Amino acid sequence: TPAPLPDAVTDLDWPALREAVAACQACSLCETRRQTVFGVGAERAHWMVVGEAPGEQEDRRGEPFVGPAGQLLDRMLAALGLSRDADGTDPAQQVYIANTLKCRPPGNRNPAPEELARCEPFLMRQIALVQPRIILAMGRFAVQALLRTDAPIGRLRGQVHTYQGVPLVVTYHPAYLLRNLPDKAKAWADLCLAADVLA
Ligand code: URA
Repeated sequence: TPAPLPDAVTDLDWPALREAVAACQACSLCETRRQTVFGVGAERAHWMVVGEAPGEQEDRRGEPFVGPAGQLLDRMLAALGLSRDADGTDPAQQVYIANTLKCRPPGNRNPAPEELARCEPFLMRQIALVQPRIILAMGRFAVQALLRTDAPIGRLRGQVHTYQGVPLVVTYHPAYLLRNLPDKAKAWADLCLAADVLA
């Protein structure tokens, strides 16, 4: 039986938030995960990338976007001079990467509404702590969590939205791009739009 959400996620600092995620039993994904996947990158990176949920590699390694989709993401970020490496000196070149769900759904199935509802406070707190200058929301689940809309990515991309006053750009999920290579040009345009916001 799922335990209740950890209380007052909104007050937690980084170490306490990390611990709360690691110990979370708020939904049944805690029964099938190998480990939680918290997030990676500089705690005050100017860029924040939000994905969907850990896949198999991420569940094994405890870091977001380390599988094939992550390699594509890293290459696209690198083309803009950006990296998840927290040791860099310039926060403008740093990216904090997190998922909407912190646990892998079995077989990489879509997140369930209940799982999203339970897990979203962790993402919201991560965003509040990072205070990014730009958020890149990748794929429909990140977009639904942050913009509260069911509109398709194709209609939301190409413009600058906001989440809690932070500029937010919508783009395709890199796992989708791996199956739909022609749309990579659009995703690249979205990243450039995000970079323009900071220019
Ligand atoms: N897809 C995601 O959305 N997140 C990951 O961490 C890996 C794949």
